[in-house]
Amino acid sequence: MFKNILVAIDGSIYSQKALPTAIEVAQKFGSDVCVLHVSEHDRGRAAVFSLETPAEATRLVADAVKTAREAGISAVGELRDVAAVAKAIVETAAARGIDLIVMGSRGLSDVQGLLLGSVTHKVMQLADVPVLVDRGPARVKEFSRAAAVQKPAAAC
Ligand SMILES: Nc1ncnc2c1ncn2[C@@H]1O[C@H](COP(=O)(O)OP(=O)(O)O)[C@@H](O)[C@H]1O
Ligand SMILES: [Mg+2]
Repeated sequence: MFKNILVAIDGSIYSQKALPTAIEVAQKFGSDVCVLHVSEHDRGRAAVFSLETPAEATRLVADAVKTAREAGISAVGELRDVAAVAKAIVETAAARGIDLIVMGSRGLSDVQGLLLGSVTHKVMQLADVPVLVDRGPARVKEFSRAAAVQKPAAAC
């Protein structure tokens, strides 16, 4: 069903969780995987500066490609350096004939209380292929807390 999967990573714990999800889907469907990272830029008053070094960005993608290959997946990496992250994800997906985009629900920003990060939100609006959003480790914690609350009280 999914021949070509794109997994978008930003180095956050959420996208660390999205990668194994993409790998698992790829194993099930025999898909190829493209790992994409877009270097983000912050617009300061006087200049536009990158939030990471080029070496860090290259390493992030290379490590993820290696992990996918070690899991037996045919994987390639792509690094983009543009301001509009969501647009770059969707455009890369279209250019590569991607039929599933996998990403985390949140990313590196520390805005609390948001269910969905802005990049994921935009990709879901712009993409014309399915988007699999991995809720990440925070969701796992939420579930275990809920389970603890719902536990029946011990009989007395
Ligand atoms: N620069 C990026 N390059 C590739 N993927 C990204 C990038 N930024 C975010 N993503 C993807 O989008 C997901 C959600 O991140 P984002 O929407 O930026 O949330 P937040 O607002 O919490 O930073 C990440 O887990 C990752 O999968
Ligand atoms: Mg972000």
